[in-house]
Formats: sequence, structure tokens, C-alpha cells
Amino acid sequence: MSTMTINGRIETLPDDPDALLVDVVRDALNLTGTKLVCGAGVCGACTVLVDGMPVVSCLMPARAAADKSVTTVESIGARKLHPVQLAFMAHDALQCGFCTPGFIVEAAAFHDHWRATKGTATPPREEIGAALSGHLCRCGAYDGIFRAVAAACAGQFDGDDIVSPRIEARDKVTGLAKYTVDIRHDGQLEGVILRSHAAHARIAELDLAPALAMAGVVAAVSLLGDDRMVRYVGEPIAAVAAKDRKTAIAAIAAIRITSERLPSVIGLDAARKPDAPVVFEKSSRKKAGNVSEGGGAPAPWKQNVRGPSAAFSSKAKKARSWLAAARETRNPLLVEGIFRTGTQSHACLEPHATVARFDGDRLTVHVSTQAVFHLMELIAKRYKLDHDKVRVIADHVGGGFGSKSSLGIETIAAIELARAAKAPVRIAYNRHEELSVTGYRPAAEVSIALLPSEQGDLKTLSLTAYADTGAAINSTIAALARLIYPAQAKDLTDFDVVSNLPPGAAFRGPGGPPMAFAVEQAIDEAALRMNVDPIALRKRWDPNPNRQRLYDWASGLELWRNRKTPASQTGRYRRGVGVATGYWLYLWQPGSKVELAVRNGRLVASTAIQDIGTGSRSVIAETVAREFGLEPHDIEVRIGDSGLPEGPGSGGSRTTASIVPPTLLAVQTLKVAIERNSKRPPTPGSNAPWRELIAASPDLTASAVRPEDSKPTLAGIRSPLKDAGFMGTIFGWMMRRFSNMAIGAGVPSSVQVIEVEVDTWLGHVRVLNVATGIAVGKIAAPALARSQAAGSVIQGIGYALYEAREIDPRTGDILTAGMEDYRIPGIADTPDIEVHFDEGGYDHVLGGSVGIGEVATVPTSPAIANAIRNATGIRLTEIPIRPDRLIAALKGRAAA
Ligand code: FES
Ligand code: FES
Repeated sequence: MSTMTINGRIETLPDDPDALLVDVVRDALNLTGTKLVCGAGVCGACTVLVDGMPVVSCLMPARAAADKSVTTVESIGARKLHPVQLAFMAHDALQCGFCTPGFIVEAAAFHDHWRATKGTATPPREEIGAALSGHLCRCGAYDGIFRAVAAACAGQFDGDDIVSPRIEARDKVTGLAKYTVDIRHDGQLEGVILRSHAAHARIAELDLAPALAMAGVVAAVSLLGDDRMVRYVGEPIAAVAAKDRKTAIAAIAAIRITSERLPSVIGLDAARKPDAPVVFEKSSRKKAGNVSEGGGAPAPWKQNVRGPSAAFSSKAKKARSWLAAARETRNPLLVEGIFRTGTQSHACLEPHATVARFDGDRLTVHVSTQAVFHLMELIAKRYKLDHDKVRVIADHVGGGFGSKSSLGIETIAAIELARAAKAPVRIAYNRHEELSVTGYRPAAEVSIALLPSEQGDLKTLSLTAYADTGAAINSTIAALARLIYPAQAKDLTDFDVVSNLPPGAAFRGPGGPPMAFAVEQAIDEAALRMNVDPIALRKRWDPNPNRQRLYDWASGLELWRNRKTPASQTGRYRRGVGVATGYWLYLWQPGSKVELAVRNGRLVASTAIQDIGTGSRSVIAETVAREFGLEPHDIEVRIGDSGLPEGPGSGGSRTTASIVPPTLLAVQTLKVAIERNSKRPPTPGSNAPWRELIAASPDLTASAVRPEDSKPTLAGIRSPLKDAGFMGTIFGWMMRRFSNMAIGAGVPSSVQVIEVEVDTWLGHVRVLNVATGIAVGKIAAPALARSQAAGSVIQGIGYALYEAREIDPRTGDILTAGMEDYRIPGIADTPDIEVHFDEGGYDHVLGGSVGIGEVATVPTSPAIANAIRNATGIRLTEIPIRPDRLIAALKGRAAA
């Protein structure tokens, strides 16, 4: 029997030669601060210290820890927080926090070594990047991580405690924050899903008996739909619950299936051929998934192609005839092209996971979700339960980005297994599942034609977008171009192309990035042809008053003013600067409610929202604190539980805009109640009257529901739906009626200026500097908003340069289903990012704040492509901009 010392305690190691250190740490010892993400040594989330050296515990056999000393994140801040932990808190070097324990362990080791050898010198950025290059953060909190590690090494956090802008930061840097994957109930079983190996088949027979007969297996359920069809590799067939994961995996292998293979079709080009096998017959089209935030408008189907959906066109016939004439006359100002964007996986570090437990007729479900309240409603409806019999809990959520907004099969399977087993069941996806079947931003092919008038206005804009949606529908790419750059005529047409691939899903600003990749490059090209500054042209064509201010800010940047003449450089390394604009809808959720109470002399704010890393706790705390003249940490915020007052989902950047107004109303009501009930007035001359009144107050409660906005009074601020005519009104009504989302007046916007360096020999592109101007009204929690903006840019850099899903075109298998194959940006890819907030424009919204999550990712890929054009003269029309694509484009130009 061998032992190790872990956090100062001696523990026995299992005899199992297959046991990994991460499993012993997390499962046997319940030290859940250490996270399991990639299981392949790529992400660093599982890092622990072994005899003082950082080690990825997912690759280390447990036996190898015999006689060694292991330190986990729980021990690092146990007695007194480490300077690195304090610095992470102070610099807000985290969002969802799922990667944070791994970063803390590695950064603490780096810090301790640095201080021992270099004293309080500040490490260079490159050295920090190299030290932490084995760690990935999908939220993109790298900017704060750089600052935190540099400050800690420089000795700035050697003192006592600090106040952090993110109120739950302490739990995240110490590993105490509990995520769904960390939940353990007594008698909890592990669930595993059996998935289809065929891209298209009808399951004739499904025999669960062999699995149920195995020792340790407690329940097995079918997950087949009524038509018994599977339409992609990975589609769920059945699920098993067993005493441990190893047994459950063996059990699903024992399930007997007889199936009839059907012809399949993989990907956009194959699926739109007229003779392609049909994925959804008419009767089964309702089974298709959804890639948008809300539902989609009705559209015709022709085999695998759904569309045209062209409701947002305006004078489309005129647009077509003007474009035809321009082609005929070879109008030199006509800009045309076909732009292709790749698939982007959400790649949340916390996998999709659910733990379901029945207590009599009450169901408690811990879920990694973006919508605790809505999920409770969906579960209650599906299982015909009263709302008060279902409780959905998500204390902390390790990222979502759009992929965790609905009732997923992991939740359905866990509930059904828990019911059958009469025991709690956990299902947590492995990385292969996470990167293959949980959704993605669909790849797209966008044809664009843009025609300026002779007077230099925008005359016509035409976009036709085909989205590679897999087994899903409702893409809106071209349609979004209705909401910016008014033209005399627009022809905007969307098509979904379904195929036997896993369904896409909403992903941060759905439709926005592919639309912007085409439109913002076409505008850049028009500016070149018209010999006009690209920012000046946008300013001329885009009357939105908030963006007008952003254009002024951008054109004054040194980065922009010092850019070189397009394509004027020679030599291997060439630098260029590009600009692009992004926008998203201002969404809020009707019915959102916040309760504010005095409890035992303390303020407590409650609402059934979740924090997926965007900082909803802190937004509420800051809003309440500001009104009472308190500190955010004085406020207790209760969220992440459907038993609290109805709260909004975290999607479409709607959380802040949904919860700040009712919070402010509840503050007003509570203030009146506190004053009315006060028996003891504040000390004369007190500079903290509310603190004293609250401390002396009896328990009181006030609550408020999100009010409608007032009418905008600022010139030019109006609903984007007004600009979209009759269809805009219908669309707005449908979003409210069927998706419980209201579209408000004003358009959250961003303008980005990006500098790149292009290695023309190897085809590498490095993003050097980013300046992102953002107009989303008043900033409720500034440090967190900055982090959100920078993280969005980093996801945009991944979309532009690295992220690509590869598929076997014959079988439909996803080949990039591990983090070693699906490359997301790391810390060393992070440029300097300047964030500028323009806080005007939303006076009609109580509190003046709207959401920030989407806008900063939309313009990043075209700004990078425009910068490459500026550096090299090459227009890249396909992302990711891989080295081979760049080299081919450079060679093509040289050969021409
Ligand atoms: S989980 Fe161990 S390195 Fe990713
Ligand atoms: S904070 Fe790093 S993955 Fe979310």
C-alpha cells in the first residue's frame, strides 16, 4: 500500500494502475478545486504541485505520486492568501473561474521562484507568457492575468487582504467555488450516454438488458425519439447509470443495437446538391436544432436547404437591377466577393453537466446552465411537474457562450436515470463530447455586393448567406446587415443548409461575426477604391450617433494615425492596421424580477440569474452599493437558484439590461421602507447614514419587476426595428411573444482598430495591438466590463486566426474533438488591448446600461483581415486565416 502527502495529510493511493492523480484528488479526496478539462495535458486546469513543481495531474498516474508531497489550490491560500491570489482578485484576472485554480498553482510557483531569484523586479510580459503558456482560458481573461502576475512578482501584493471588483473572486482563486461537476451527493451514480457511430440511421432494436445485467449498473434508459432516427455521429441513443464512470462506460459498450444505415450527407457543399440524401423529411423538421437566440421566421424548405429567408430586405428588386447594371457597365466602385467563415466551437472549460436528484416528488437539478429559471420551466413542462417541485441550481458556471441556454440531453438523461435508479445521477461530458455535440457557430459562405452611388453614398448592399448548420436551422447572417449602414436598397437573403452533422447553436452574437467579416471588408475595399479614409467612410455611411462618437475616438488614435500607406512595405515582416465596426441588438427580458431585503442588518439582493463568468453578482452588488453609498462587498447577492425571483437568461447580452432597472426600483422602495421603519436616525454628521440605518433596520423586503423603457429623447436613438420596417415590427413581436425577449431602442456598438504583424515567409499573423471602443451605455461594473470586452476580442482572434473544426467528410466524425487539435488562443497570443467606453446613448433605460458580451467579438475578424490587407495588399476572404491560406494568397498575387 503506497501513500502520498497531500496538503500536509498522508493519504493512501489506490491500487488501480489506471487511476490518475486528478481522479484521486477530485473524486477520492473531494479536493474539487483542481479541475479536469482536456485530460490531455493541454489546458493546465488540473495543475498541482508535486514536490513543489507544477504538474498536470491528468497525465500523472496516481501511483507515481507515491512518497511525494502534493499541493493543490486549496492549500495555497489556506492560511493566508498568496500574493498571486490577491493579485488575481485585484486585477480581475478571471471570469468564469474554471481555469483559475490551474493558473493560480502555476503562477504561484513562478512567483515564488521569481522572487527567490529576482527580488521585486517586474517580469517581462514574454516571460509571464512563457511560464503560463501551458494554460488555457476560454473566457480570455489573459489581459488581467498578465497584469496580476507582474504586480505580484513586483511585490505589490505582499500585504494583507484586498477588495476585489468581482465579489466571488475569493472563492474562485482558492478553489472553493463549486461548479456542477463538483457536486457530490451520497449514493450518487455516474451517467454516461451511448451515442451513434453512424451519421444517419434508423435504430431498429435497442436492447438495454446486457448493460442492466452488469454488476454495478443501476439504470439504463432509451433516449431515442419517436422516429428512432439518428441524424449525426454522436446523437444520443441511450444512457446508463452505474456506481462509477468506468462501469458505466463498460455498460454502454454492452448495449445491443440493430440499425439500418441510411445514406448521409456531410457539410454545406454536399448537402445543397440537388441529389443529396435528405436529412429531415417534412414530418421531422421540427426536430432540427436552433442556431439563433430566439426562434426563426417560417421559411420554405427545398430538400436540405431552408430558405430563402429574406424578410429584412428592402427594395430587393431594385437592388438586384442596380447591381446588374453596375456589373454590365463594369462600375469600378462595385465591390463583390465571396467570404467564407469557419466553424467555431464554444469550448467551455466546464463541460455540460447535470446532477439530478429526486426527494419524493421533488426534483433538484444542478446544471451548468445559462438560464436557471427558464430551465426550471422547461423541466417542469416536460415532466408535468409543478414549478415548486423543480429546483435548478447553478452556483458557478464555467462558461457558456450560448451553448448552455436550453434543456440539453445531459439534463434529460440525468433526470430519467435518477428517476429509474432512485438515486442521484451525475452526467458530465468528456472533452470529445464537449467539442463535437454541444453546438458551434456554423460555418458560412457569404456572397456580398456593395455599390456606392456617384455622390459617394451607399446605394446598394446585397448579401446572400448559406450557413452550414448541421442538424439545425434559423441562422440569421445576412438579415443583420439591415440594421447598419442604411442604403437606398438592400437584398439580404439567408439560407440554412442542414446535413448529417451535429446541430449548431447560438454563439456570442449569432450571425454577427460572419456578417461583419463580409460587410466590413467590403467597406474597407470601397474606401480603398474611393480613396477615402476607411473610418471617414464609415462615419459618412453610418448615422448612428453612438458610433459617430466611436468613429471620432478611433480616428484620433495614434495607432490609426500612424498606419502605413496600404501595401507599401516590402521585406519578410510587415505591419498593418485595420478597422471594423460591430453591433448587436439591445435585448432585455420582460418579467425579470429582483428582490432586495434587509436581513439581520445587511442588504441581501436575490434573483434567479446565473453567473457564467460575466459578473452578474458584481453588477447587482455594485448597483445596490452605489445607491446606498456602500461597498459592493457589503451586499449579499443570492443568485443561481430557480427558487429565487424570476431572473433572465444569460444570452444575447441581456442580463445587465434586465436586472439593473428592477434593482434600482427595488432600491427606491426599500429606501422608503427603511426610513419609514427607522427607530434610530443616523448619527448627526454621519458620512454613512445608510449603513447606520440598515444596521438598525428590522428585516424588510422590496421587490421590482423590469419596467418598460421610457421613450428615447436623444437625437438618432431609436429602435433598430423601426429601421427594419414592417418586418421589424413583426420580428420584435415574435421575439417577445415566443422567446420572452424585448428589443430595445439603441444599438450596442463597438469600433475596433487592430494592428498585426504578418510573417510573409511562414504565413503567421500576430495581433500586436487592439483598441476597442464600446458604446453600451453606463458601465455597471467597470473592471468586469473591461475583462468581458478583452475576452470577446480574444475569442474573435481565435475565430480569425486559429479555430477550425475538421470533419471526416465520409463518416461525419468530428476530428478536432480534443483541445490538442482544436486550437483556442493562449496567453502568448494575447495582444495589448485598450478598452474605451463611451457611456452615452441609453438615457431611456433606467440605470443607462445595456449588455456588452457580444459587441466586442463581432468586428475582430474583419479588423484583422483589413489590417492584413493594409500590411500586404492581400484581401483574405476565408477564416481561419491559416498560414497556408495566407501563403497561397501571397503567391497568387506574386504570380499574377
Ligand atoms: S485537464 Fe489536465 S491539462 Fe487539461
Ligand atoms: S475564466 Fe478562464 S475559462 Fe473562464
